[in-house]
Amino acid sequence: MKYLSDSEKKTKDIAGKIAGQSAGGKIIALEGPLGAGKTTFAQGFAQALGIKEPLQSPTFILMRQYKIPGNEEGKLFHIDPYRLEDRAQAQSLGLDEIFANPRNIVLIEWADKLREELPKHHIRVQMKILSPEKREITVAE
Ligand SMILES: Nc1ncnc2c1ncn2[C@@H]1O[C@H](COP(=O)(O)OP(=O)(O)O)[C@@H](O)[C@H]1O
Ligand SMILES: [Mg+2]
Repeated sequence: MKYLSDSEKKTKDIAGKIAGQSAGGKIIALEGPLGAGKTTFAQGFAQALGIKEPLQSPTFILMRQYKIPGNEEGKLFHIDPYRLEDRAQAQSLGLDEIFANPRNIVLIEWADKLREELPKHHIRVQMKILSPEKREITVAE
């Protein structure tokens, strides 16, 4: 599915729509250059799940987790491996356990950096910058 966004709000709305189809648990791999809107997408996604705290970019700590209202068995994990140093650090995140819980929702920015760890079944969201305000967002299961 291909979407065009011409504002931050539109990107959040698109993310919200996908969140609505993912309430039971999902892995979402976000790809695209700096400024494409990966964090913006993650914020819209979290808002749509009813998460009230603003999602902060986990750039330096690599991963943050949030409670999902109405989903006691799962959590939302927001991962940003931009500054990931090596495989050992990737392993230290405990991703296997996170991915193993089907009720977890995992949003991963720079997902290509965790290609080795990423389970086969995930939603791939590719974000392309067309102009300062325009983004092409391609979503594939
Ligand atoms: N259509 C759009 N969708 C998302 N972000 C947009 C859009 N147009 C402009 N922007 C701006 O682009 C930046 C995207 O930043 P961010 O979401 O942090 O990107 P990334 O996490 O991919 O580096 C924000 O400053 C946002 O306001
Ligand atoms: Mg980001």
